[in-house]
Amino acid sequence: MTNQFYVAVVGAGPAGLFAARELANLGARVVLFNRDIKPGGLAEYGIYPNKHTMKNGLRKQFKQVLDLPNLTYYGNVTVGEQGDLTLADLRTLGFQAILVTAGAQGTKWLGLPGENLIGVYHAKDVVYFYNKLPPFSERSFRFGKRCAVIGAGNVMLDITHFLSREEKVEEVIAIVRRGPVEVKFDKKEMEYVIDNLDQQALDAEIQRVTPIMQAVHQDPEAAKAAILEALPKALPKVSNTKFRFEFLASPVQMLGDVEGCLTQVEIEDNILVEANGDTKAKGTGNKRRLDVETVVFAIGDKVDASFGLPTEWNEFVKSETPRFPIDNISYESTFEDVFVGGWSRKASSGLVGLARKDGTNASKAVWQYLQQTKQPVEANTEALSAKLMSLNKPLVLKEHIKKLEEVELAQARQLGLEIFKFDNNNAMLQAMGLLAYENA
Ligand SMILES: Cc1cc2nc3c(=O)[nH]c(=O)nc-3n(C[C@H](O)[C@H](O)[C@H](O)COP(=O)(O)OP(=O)(O)OC[C@H]3O[C@@H](n4cnc5c(N)ncnc54)[C@H](O)[C@@H]3O)c2cc1C
Ligand SMILES: NC(=O)c1ccc[n+]([C@@H]2O[C@H](COP(=O)([O-])OP(=O)(O)OC[C@H]3O[C@@H](n4cnc5c(N)ncnc54)[C@H](OP(=O)(O)O)[C@@H]3O)[C@@H](O)[C@H]2O)c1
Repeated sequence: MTNQFYVAVVGAGPAGLFAARELANLGARVVLFNRDIKPGGLAEYGIYPNKHTMKNGLRKQFKQVLDLPNLTYYGNVTVGEQGDLTLADLRTLGFQAILVTAGAQGTKWLGLPGENLIGVYHAKDVVYFYNKLPPFSERSFRFGKRCAVIGAGNVMLDITHFLSREEKVEEVIAIVRRGPVEVKFDKKEMEYVIDNLDQQALDAEIQRVTPIMQAVHQDPEAAKAAILEALPKALPKVSNTKFRFEFLASPVQMLGDVEGCLTQVEIEDNILVEANGDTKAKGTGNKRRLDVETVVFAIGDKVDASFGLPTEWNEFVKSETPRFPIDNISYESTFEDVFVGGWSRKASSGLVGLARKDGTNASKAVWQYLQQTKQPVEANTEALSAKLMSLNKPLVLKEHIKKLEEVELAQARQLGLEIFKFDNNNAMLQAMGLLAYENA
């Protein structure tokens, strides 16, 4: 065996997979640990399920990464203080650098009364549910007739897409803390839901917020036109769901019935104030209640605070004086051998392409660190195998993923589906031959 730099990459989403590829191509011996059985992260379990072309294209690229000879994949292995392996374990096992690309797995609760009511969810959980990621795929959700979605990003539109085209609820209200100018979603994503948009309600809402917008020199008609830009390419609706916006409103509490089920969301009206060339929402004190059975927070995520790295706000703390900045960005945590990339570096920011670039750049920083501070070593793979065996749980390797893909493809063909996905870990483990069938 030749001496090589020995690197652990934690998380096999787009950032981790492309980071691992970069490091492997540079000549490192890479071990990729992934919480989920399957690789792909949010590309597999976040991107809307019907985006088959995009998802299949990414799956194909991820397969090629897993095929790299100097890369080992361990799925179903969680790294973290409460995980299967801690960062300290990885060091003890001889890894010379650790790149954390575990995404943003923490939940950004706002600390509002009623967040624990039945019917109050975070978008990530809902998205994982409809994309069939265990254990979220096995949880029960209460999608009522009237649903509020907090936020104005593409995730809000994905949830609205699901609620209007799959759940076919009566009403979806997007509650947006700023105004029509500050919405963050893309026209392309609006095409899926704009046929359900209640245009009369939009007109009335734009009229209601016009004085507030004009006070900060905004053009309400231009903002409305931008929202409606998707109309010519609207996908015909499949339900009578009425989709509408409540602009300039922030949730302040959720109210429930005696059984703990959500019945109302209370919102506070906002005005806009100018701040550093941007706008900020400022509460007016005026509060209103909307009757809803479901509230989904689509306000972005934060990193997992229990991972074992210091956090600040929604992110892992990065070194402010990086030794190996790439494009002026710090990929370094506060531990000299631990680097961060993708949504673990900047939570909830950007598309797959950006995560790929960020993971690749993080790898470049790792590589510089290795070259300047370490010598290639003979990886102690036996120690790692022994440690993993001691976890007493099924370890998912590259060949198992291949087997799972074959079984799922065969199932899809048999059922005449575009795609088939097992929605629980046992079924996946059985399909891969890592768990006996109960009646076998
Ligand atoms: C709902 C939604 C829809 C989206 N739709 C699109 C779209 O249509 N087009 C587009 O280009 N982008 C889309 N994006 C953005 C895109 O998914 C992200 O940019 C990208 O997936 C981020 O990559 P990442 O690798 O940093 O994190 P993730 O994709 O979150 O991957 C993290 C990986 O780390 C693993 N992991 C987590 N914790 C641990 C741990 N403790 N130990 C080991 N492994 C761990 C997870 O299993 C996962 O595999 C969407 C995002 C969301 C939320
Ligand atoms: N189809 C796609 O291409 C697709 C699909 C999903 C996600 N993505 C990408 O994934 C990334 C994350 O998307 P996202 O929608 O989660 O994030 P996002 O685009 O940042 O939108 C988050 C929304 O939540 C609001 N918000 C944040 N904190 C809030 C709070 N405390 N109270 C009320 N509202 C709050 C924000 O308002 P402010 O503007 O006022 O902060 C914003 O409207 C984005 O880059 C997105 O483009 C892409």
